[in-house]
Amino acid sequence: MTSLRAIQADITQLNVDAIVNAANSSLLGGGGVDGAIHRAAGPELLEECRTLSGCPVGQARLTRGYRLPAQFVIHTVGPVWHGGTHGEAQLLASCYRESLSLVAAQQLASVAFPCISTGVYGYPPEQAVEVAIAAVQDFLRSPCSLREVIFCCYSAGDLALYQSCLAHF
Ligand code: AR6
Repeated sequence: MTSLRAIQADITQLNVDAIVNAANSSLLGGGGVDGAIHRAAGPELLEECRTLSGCPVGQARLTRGYRLPAQFVIHTVGPVWHGGTHGEAQLLASCYRESLSLVAAQQLASVAFPCISTGVYGYPPEQAVEVAIAAVQDFLRSPCSLREVIFCCYSAGDLALYQSCLAHF
């Protein structure tokens, strides 16, 4: 069984095998959680990201974690919210699925996700949380190496949303 839980924390501090970065398609850094991860990992992370030539929305790329406690960073690019009728939910679900595929391919046991797309990209958190949990649950229906999936919330409000949604799944 894989445990699925939500916590309130700074994702850069987590001692897990991989953390997921809510990046933009350049993979060359930005604000929000992306900026925090690059600052904590150090300049080597940007150097490795430069070799990747970007990443399309809904896909994911793996790098090392450098100075982070996490061994790996999975960079995924969430959709910008345009009202919900532009495939946002499918693209957001794809971010979770593709990230977990990379984690499973590396035989990792633990991964932490931030609330992808709910900051600068404007995805309503209530809807993003449902997509995130459903996509992860769906992925975990097939056996894999994962023992722990953490939804790492920055705000108490996001944590409450995850906890109430997890209770209904
Ligand atoms: N730990 C955990 N969560 C965090 C942290 C942290 N240290 N810092 C922020 N969050 P955002 P997006 C939360 O804007 O909406 C960047 O510039 C934050 O409270 O980081 O996917 C990229 O380069 C929110 O809940 O990502 C892209 O251009 C969540 O992380 C763009 O922003 C996501 O907010 C991506 O926008």
